[in-house]
Amino acid sequence: MTEGESRLKSGIPALDVVEFAVAEMESSGLYVAGKGSAPNTAGYVELDASIMAGPTREAGAVAAIVGVVNPVSVARGVMERTPHVMLAGQGALAFAREQSYELVDGPDEYYVLPVGVYEDEIYEQKHGTVGAVALDTSGKLAAATSTGGTFGKLEGRVGDSPLIGPGTWADDGIAISFTGIGEHIIRSGGAIAIAHKVAGGATVADAIQSVLDEINKLGGDAGVIVVTRDAQIAMVYNSDGMKRASVSSTSPVRVATFESWSGN
Ligand code: GLY
Repeated sequence: MTEGESRLKSGIPALDVVEFAVAEMESSGLYVAGKGSAPNTAGYVELDASIMAGPTREAGAVAAIVGVVNPVSVARGVMERTPHVMLAGQGALAFAREQSYELVDGPDEYYVLPVGVYEDEIYEQKHGTVGAVALDTSGKLAAATSTGGTFGKLEGRVGDSPLIGPGTWADDGIAISFTGIGEHIIRSGGAIAIAHKVAGGATVADAIQSVLDEINKLGGDAGVIVVTRDAQIAMVYNSDGMKRASVSSTSPVRVATFESWSGN
């Protein structure tokens, strides 16, 4: 968090900061993203990630990619080095190889959970799609999201996290990243639904609540992190808790999982 803060303070663009923050979480092994991801029911790890630049709405994503260390960086590569928004599966890995992104050297040793082992008890202890949103000193917004997906997912299953719209959104007014069960988030519209409500005049709090209520009606729970062009920060969830942290030029680092913050 403090590393992201100092990068923003030194004038590094929001896009670089969200990529950096998400890549750090992917590499940590502490979340269900990158190194901490759980294998699918076929016994191997497939990863999803996306990134979006607010001012230009340039976006990149990878879905069901295998064997890369930082899928969020490959997603950025898709954005900057191809005419496309998303690459999936074998094609995404071929692109990562061709562009020399770091590859996992031996999945059995790299992943925190043993590849090829499916145990409900282990899976239940692990939660956590990761995301970052940022507003930089030049007023630009960006968002990024990364996940190993849901526990016990089928081979080839893709959730909301690599989808520009439901899982990740940034424009010139707002940046948003979702966590939760992707099937419900996709069917509610997710991040883009919040962005449209805010653009239409809703408060950030009301827009988030109405989409979380929709997700709840569909039988799911979720959490969302948001920052706006006028520096409103919101981190809201209707799940039991959400690991989250925020910092701004006017507020100190705040970190929480279950407790609520006033104003959020
Ligand atoms: N939100 C992460 C997923 O459903 O894959």
